Amino acid sequence: MKFNFGKSGDIQVKLVVKGSKDYENKMLDYLLDKEIFEAKAAETYLSMDEEGKGILFLGLGEEKDLSLEILRKGFHKLGSELRSAKVESLGFSLPDFDKLDEFEAIKAATEGLLHSTYAFDKYLSEKKVKPTIEEVFIDVEDEALAKKAVEEAEIVMEGIILARDLVNERPMNMYPQILADAAKDNLEPLGVEVTIYGQDEIEDMGMEAFLSVSIGSDSEPKFIVMEYKGDEDSDETIALVGKGLTFDSGGYSLKPSASMDTMFSDMAGSATVIGALQSIAKAGLKKNVVAVVAACENLIDGSAYKPGDIIGSMSGKTIEVLNTDAEGRLTLADALWYTVKELKADKIIDLATLTGAAIVALGDLTTAAITNNDELLAEVIEASKLAGEPIWELPNFSDYKEYFSSDFADMANTNTKSKGAGTVTAGLFLENFVEDTPWVHLDIAGTAYLSSHKGYLPKGATGVHVKTLFNLIKA
Ligand code: BES
Ligand code: ZN
Ligand code: ZN
Repeated sequence: MKFNFGKSGDIQVKLVVKGSKDYENKMLDYLLDKEIFEAKAAETYLSMDEEGKGILFLGLGEEKDLSLEILRKGFHKLGSELRSAKVESLGFSLPDFDKLDEFEAIKAATEGLLHSTYAFDKYLSEKKVKPTIEEVFIDVEDEALAKKAVEEAEIVMEGIILARDLVNERPMNMYPQILADAAKDNLEPLGVEVTIYGQDEIEDMGMEAFLSVSIGSDSEPKFIVMEYKGDEDSDETIALVGKGLTFDSGGYSLKPSASMDTMFSDMAGSATVIGALQSIAKAGLKKNVVAVVAACENLIDGSAYKPGDIIGSMSGKTIEVLNTDAEGRLTLADALWYTVKELKADKIIDLATLTGAAIVALGDLTTAAITNNDELLAEVIEASKLAGEPIWELPNFSDYKEYFSSDFADMANTNTKSKGAGTVTAGLFLENFVEDTPWVHLDIAGTAYLSSHKGYLPKGATGVHVKTLFNLIKA
């Protein structure tokens, strides 16, 4: 899909705000009058002649409800529809919306169109997305601004697509070495320094918690550190830490089959930080960002860690493993400690498919957040709103911290005191390993992988929060 500027294209897309009076289009008057087309948000009506030329009306709903998200959804919908109609080119212009920033509006429309091109079809004999819609023409006054907006949308979408492809890849082809290679292959050409530590080095660093999770697997764990220096004049570094379980069987606290079959997606946090860093580096954002991933598999064999084990960690704290399926927090404990102590990060955002309880609390629409720093969380939420990727804070009350106390170790890896609050206690468990560093934990268990498509987000990996992270670093 190539973006051009000016007035052209076989299908002209006309945006219609509900209730506005002067449409200056007879066909549209007729459709509205007969209620064939009502201009509801993301509603489309296509009229095409015998030469494949014509017009598509895109409803935007009422002006007071207008949002970037409606533009994304609308342009995704029309993109999919025009593809099915084998349309090769389209043109559109954006009205001067009072409510929306022009740059962001063009970006959102472009994103929507690009979303319609994605399918994870590498294992399908017949491909899903047919390569139509070759050209898009945007008719705007400020072409320079539009060009920048389109470029940024393309860069962010590439990061989202990288994240999705990594998550959607199946576990026989996605183990720690492959994830590490993907980080290297995609990031090094952009000037990101990628360092990969193997078993021996991870042992030398004392990451006993991370290694305990990995013992039952034949694949070597990899600790992946990706450093992007966008601002040589600053010594401030923001760290993005991603959970990187390339497969989570639950270990001896084995998952039932129905919960296990999508557990190749348990590295979505790591895919998100890799995808985001790619976009950040490509756009040349002027910040120093480091991404950290402790990648391993949680499997079973004669040497695997067991419920009841008391393990160490890089921090020196001991942990009683009451459930081997609560493994993400063990890998993250060492990854976070390393990020604080070795990388000396000033701020940390971690993303993890950490708890099924996040799905119970918020479903697949909203990511759960826990923080030790309200200011940083406010920045993350601001970035997520612009991205259309909702985040909601859960309480961090200190009384919850007793919930993972253990009589035999410094802490337990599950709630020993009560039922429920699984997302909160998992988050607060992690807090032990960031000391006073401003930190936001995002539990993406519900939002990273969908059982059926939702708007422009496909079934399977969503890539959510690549955009949030990009916006956060750009701000
Ligand atoms: N990877 C899972 C969480 C998960 C569940 C992600 C569903 C995506 C979809 C995590 O490692 C896990 O199994 N957590 C346990 C923790 C429990 C044992 C305290 C859970 O949520 O059941
Ligand atoms: Zn688990
Ligand atoms: Zn897991």
